Amino acid sequence: MAAAVLKDGSHVLSSVISSQDEIHSLYGGIVPELASRRHIETVIPVVEEALKQASVTLDDIDAIGVTQGPGLVGSILVGLSFAKAVAFATGKPFVGVNHIEAHPLAVFLDETGDGIDAPEFPYVALVVSGGHTSLIKVESFTEFSVLGRTRDDAAGEAFDKAAKLLGLGYPGGAVIDRLAKEGNPKAIQFKRPIIKKGNLEFSFSGLKTAVMLRVKAERSGCVTARGDQEVALSGEFIRDLAASFQETVVDVLTKKALWALEATGARDLVIAGGVACNSRLRAKLAEAIGDNNTRFFAAPPRFCSDNAAMIALSGYHRLKAGERGELDMNAYPSI
Ligand code: KG4
Ligand code: ZN
Repeated sequence: MAAAVLKDGSHVLSSVISSQDEIHSLYGGIVPELASRRHIETVIPVVEEALKQASVTLDDIDAIGVTQGPGLVGSILVGLSFAKAVAFATGKPFVGVNHIEAHPLAVFLDETGDGIDAPEFPYVALVVSGGHTSLIKVESFTEFSVLGRTRDDAAGEAFDKAAKLLGLGYPGGAVIDRLAKEGNPKAIQFKRPIIKKGNLEFSFSGLKTAVMLRVKAERSGCVTARGDQEVALSGEFIRDLAASFQETVVDVLTKKALWALEATGARDLVIAGGVACNSRLRAKLAEAIGDNNTRFFAAPPRFCSDNAAMIALSGYHRLKAGERGELDMNAYPSI
């Protein structure tokens, strides 16, 4: 659950995030029922904290932006019902926001209020999270067109599954990022999925299977008198696999992001979503982009992963464009 207060549509007065990773890590992935129950418990304290940190009261708020989808519908409904209730009780306007369209706008968030170096429309956004991997052409604050998306698993999902297979816990993206720094990215050669020039779709399920088979082969290396026995994975193997896996994903994401720039003629590239925190992805894109007449933008990590400030920013522009939420508005689980 997250809540934020913005001034003038981009100046972040507060951004509070109550992570549920601790609860879900026990199960190796998100448990939808637990997620929505936790949202119910945290929605009021998180909103109160956001108001407090911004030194404002509810009376000072002009309008409310709220995530309408896509995502886990039980959790989205908690936030949406709360926003509707506040809007109804206070008479303030509210608007529903597509959270995948909010991610690419996070680069406009301004923490100091002094102004920021922002991309120019139209730009290409690579949205890489636990649930989505999409290349989007961002025409304006409210107009988007999808250039390509994943046919199966999302990039973050692949990171989380690889981490689980290596026994690194959940969510695993940040751990793989850390371990990969000490591993050899060339130690294991993984096939780059659908790397045909110009194709802007992604696929990560084959890579997941390849990681699974490689881990299985490594584990079953020892035969004892009692039959096959699993071998514990060595630190070196884990680091090398993490580096090789990460390099494969980053390579595919980088190539396709550059192709998307070429295809659209856009000058600026923005990365967003939890996987945009990945240090190798940031470094490789910055390096690749530096070669041509293009620019590369990434929000600070706390605005790359799910946060309410980007929802407020998107909501501000939607309200300015005349959109208004109605009390019968429903959540949508997928795009
Ligand atoms: O955008 P996000 O916070 O939530 C979703 O909307 O899914 O993204 C979460 C995903 C998780 O899969 C997590 O493992 C991944 O982002 N992630 C990373 C890194 N930090 C978070 N993946 C790779 N490298 C990282 N440093
Ligand atoms: Zn997200």
